[in-house]
Amino acid sequence: MTSTHRLAIVGTGGIAHLHADELRKHVPDRFELVAAVDPDQGRLDAFKEKFGLARGYATIEDLLANEELDLVDLCTPPVAHGPGAIAALEANVGVVCEKPPALSLEEFDRIAAAAASSTADFAVISQHRFGSAAERVRNMMASGVLGRLAVAKCDTLWFRPEEYFAVEWRGRWETEGGGPTMGHGIHQIDTLLSIVGPWSEVVATAHRHRRTTNTEDVSHAIVTLESGASAVITNSLLSPREVSQIRLDFDTATVELDHLYGYGDDDWSVHPIASAAADVNLAWAGEPRGQASGHGAQFARIADALDGRATPPVAIEEARRTLELLAAIYASAFTGERVRAGDIDPTSPFYQRMDGSGTPWPDLK
Ligand SMILES: NC(=O)c1ccc[n+]([C@@H]2O[C@H](COP(=O)([O-])OP(=O)(O)OC[C@H]3O[C@@H](n4cnc5c(N)ncnc54)[C@H](O)[C@@H]3O)[C@@H](O)[C@H]2O)c1
Repeated sequence: MTSTHRLAIVGTGGIAHLHADELRKHVPDRFELVAAVDPDQGRLDAFKEKFGLARGYATIEDLLANEELDLVDLCTPPVAHGPGAIAALEANVGVVCEKPPALSLEEFDRIAAAAASSTADFAVISQHRFGSAAERVRNMMASGVLGRLAVAKCDTLWFRPEEYFAVEWRGRWETEGGGPTMGHGIHQIDTLLSIVGPWSEVVATAHRHRRTTNTEDVSHAIVTLESGASAVITNSLLSPREVSQIRLDFDTATVELDHLYGYGDDDWSVHPIASAAADVNLAWAGEPRGQASGHGAQFARIADALDGRATPPVAIEEARRTLELLAAIYASAFTGERVRAGDIDPTSPFYQRMDGSGTPWPDLK
């Protein structure tokens, strides 16, 4: 049995329009968009008019005081994710939050504590987990047809010109939490971990090659997974031929994803070894299929979870694992040390801030 969940969007900038469009297009009967929040009155009014909303507020506190809600959808800059999430959870209203979920592990753990004391749940947007081809790969791994993973590659090679960073919150540790590792590569990295499972240690470098930001514009990481497999990850905002790629080399096949900001079934390919080709190709031709990655796909799964009184995806434990890997990439890059899962505890400067003890380059902004 499905019901309609009352939702408000907080922050009405670029991504909020996509959220509202996706809700309307993919799950119109499962969510009712009842209100929006933005301190920028012009943006708020334009958003209300475009999506036919009667009510808007300047702050999330006004929203929570005046509306009966099941969920707030946080589309604010990263600096406002933690305070917004904690305010909603304390009011026992569920939260779905754009990436990155928090500026640091310290802030994330405060959100987790608020969720633990709340009757409502916290979930992070990671829309590329939810395409049917990623699900099929996860199922094929579980069935054993792919054998074991040996090697993975995960590249987010995007291009963001200098003008992109004119927006006040971008390119600063205090408001964005990091550069392409935290803000862009997080999509691919989280999708990778959803397939290959937990990570155990990382060595990394980060660089500010070109942009006048305080954050990095490139990072590279070599990650050992709990399974024993290894993965190489590159995140760049300096790559004119843009691509988002995941490559997985299993015992019986290479599986590849090649897309930019979202994929369908056809963006994936499988290349089996000859002796396993029949079994691999049969499984690859099976279900599920037809679901592209995207916010609509994740919102449908969130609605299913709310209907079943389960925790919506992507929930605290998995979201933290990804954020911890990002913190570990920065910690390794800025200290030159190998960082293991669990190393970044509250005594580490990288628990408090993603730039931890400081970057090797001077602040510019
Ligand atoms: N999942 C994705 O594919 C994807 C894509 C783009 C952006 N994002 C994420 O979405 C978030 C927003 O990005 P954007 O590009 O839409 O930013 P934006 O700057 O275009 O919009 C942010 C909006 O939030 C408003 N705002 C600021 N502080 C607020 C507060 N305290 N309460 C309410 N509103 C507030 C601003 O006035 C602005 O209108 C970021 O975390 C970003 O990383 C995700």
